[in-house]
Amino acid sequence: MCGIVGYIGKQEAVPVLLDGLKRLEYRGYDSAGVTVFNQGKLSCSKTVGRLVKVEELLEKSPLPGTVGIGHTRWATHGRPSDRNAHPHFDCTQRISVVHNGIIENYIELKEWLQEKGHIFNSETDTEVLPHLIEEYYRGSLVEAVQDALKKVEGAFALVVICKDHPEHLVVARKASPLIIGLGKEENFIASDIPAVLPYTRDIFILDDGEMAVVEAAGVQVSDFDGKLLPKKPFHVEWDITAAEKGGYEDFMLKEIHEQPRAVRDTMAGKIDRGEMKVVLPEVKLSAAEINKLQKIHVVACGTASYAGQVGKFLIEKLARIPVEVDLASEFRYRDPIVGPNSLTIIISQSGETADTLAGLREAKALGSRVLAITNVVGSSVAREADDLILTLAGPEIAVASTKAYTTQLLSLYLLAIYLAQERGIISLNDRMGMLEAMMNLPTQIEKVLNTETKIKEFAGNFKDCEDIFFIGRGLDYAVSLEGALKLKEISYIHAEAYAAGELKHGTLALIVEGVPVFAVVTQPELYDKMISNIKEVKAREATVVALALAGDHDTEKSVDYVLHIPLTHTMLTPILSVVPLQLFAYYTAKAKGCDVDKPRNLAKSVTVE
Ligand code: G6P
Repeated sequence: MCGIVGYIGKQEAVPVLLDGLKRLEYRGYDSAGVTVFNQGKLSCSKTVGRLVKVEELLEKSPLPGTVGIGHTRWATHGRPSDRNAHPHFDCTQRISVVHNGIIENYIELKEWLQEKGHIFNSETDTEVLPHLIEEYYRGSLVEAVQDALKKVEGAFALVVICKDHPEHLVVARKASPLIIGLGKEENFIASDIPAVLPYTRDIFILDDGEMAVVEAAGVQVSDFDGKLLPKKPFHVEWDITAAEKGGYEDFMLKEIHEQPRAVRDTMAGKIDRGEMKVVLPEVKLSAAEINKLQKIHVVACGTASYAGQVGKFLIEKLARIPVEVDLASEFRYRDPIVGPNSLTIIISQSGETADTLAGLREAKALGSRVLAITNVVGSSVAREADDLILTLAGPEIAVASTKAYTTQLLSLYLLAIYLAQERGIISLNDRMGMLEAMMNLPTQIEKVLNTETKIKEFAGNFKDCEDIFFIGRGLDYAVSLEGALKLKEISYIHAEAYAAGELKHGTLALIVEGVPVFAVVTQPELYDKMISNIKEVKAREATVVALALAGDHDTEKSVDYVLHIPLTHTMLTPILSVVPLQLFAYYTAKAKGCDVDKPRNLAKSVTVE
């Protein structure tokens, strides 16, 4: 969590730092700040609140200078406040640090440093870093950072500036992302690529255990002992406009509308239309290895884990391999039964979520092969997995995930068919049926997007609700989980998803007159059962919105509002039915006046455990 930036070169640093931080605000936005070197000293401007508050401070009291560091925070240790905002300093105002991650042994280090006379100003774990570097400083910032890092446990991406050494910034990474944008006579540091794209497309992606000395004229990458490491620049192909709003009111709405394109791109090149089979270029599992698989574990967080719930259904149905879905934050602590005959599927939009990455490493340590589904080329998850399916959603900026989810689903369809095809247990006819239906999905998503005005009109009716329940069976239940998450995270309305058949075992007690229930009814095999469940809640006078298949006019008779999705293969409905749920969440939150792109207390990329 948190976004960090650094700049060294000939331009004024503050505009470059603020510009970068704006593009990283999705990583946290409860406080922000910058430190700039000028005329022999370090000057800092920081405050609780959004970045715009720092901008206002800097307009009133500009900080000139051509080298500096910056931070946008998502609080973990210490509430959001001016004092806890980064950058942090040592006792002598000689050294300033921005940090993303958690220093796990900070209490021990803080006590040790306090005994040595260091005075702390904040409640953060980060503040031990400048004091620790001060403790080891003998004139060389690089050596002091190296010594400090030997004492530190936990996760960090950090940038250090020192008033005695304005000729360089020192950066280091362990378990939190960090990249260096390579310019001409200037260099840029950031947590993520979009922050540097207006300036350069050539970047170094630092690996765990790497640090760098960044000067205007060049960058030297080494390990924490100073051993120089050769580093190849990575050239970014995608365009900055992909990470901008493009005329939409919010990133979330833009990203919802990008889904036809994102699904089309993710599918491109992965279906052999001649043989009607799936081709996954970066999945190296052989048919023999697939046949030996006894178990598949899906490990992920948040929306990605709900994509995993759909994936379980698909893989078990098509490839007949048992699948367990684990929340990454639970997986590694429950002594999972994972071994050489299991495959672990890691799903992560960012490829940097700390819990998910820890799950990946745990699975590998236990001997499992790891297949990653991720949206970020060069992310930790992409690099550490054995096999890879890239979702080509493009940068997802809104905290609430939309196009990443649909492309994760698409990837799981491809994978389920691939596993079944390599095991020889799916007929050509069945394959053709699914693949042809998949190729129609982008156009069908466009059709669903055309129902936006209708959804916008009725979503406003729900803005004052306290609770909303989502119900479904089978795949519709899996999608309901995502629908409820979308609504609660951006509108702050309490939303829960239930397997419709489970209502009678407790939740029905909460259904009284006017309580909204969103029923997803797209599975023909379960249709009659769902209608009975709808009748159960209607009998308690719930207000029911149904999401049904085109042509289903019976459901209409039992509910208050109905939305339709186009007909598709039964197993593919989630990729269409989630779209109205996303739009419903979006327009309900907008009707409430919420900041949909930056919901309270949340952040996009959660790089702390
Ligand atoms: C955060 C985001 C969610 C996302 C989850 C997992 O909570 O707000 O949108 O689903 O992290 O992120 P990942 O990048 O691993 O998919």
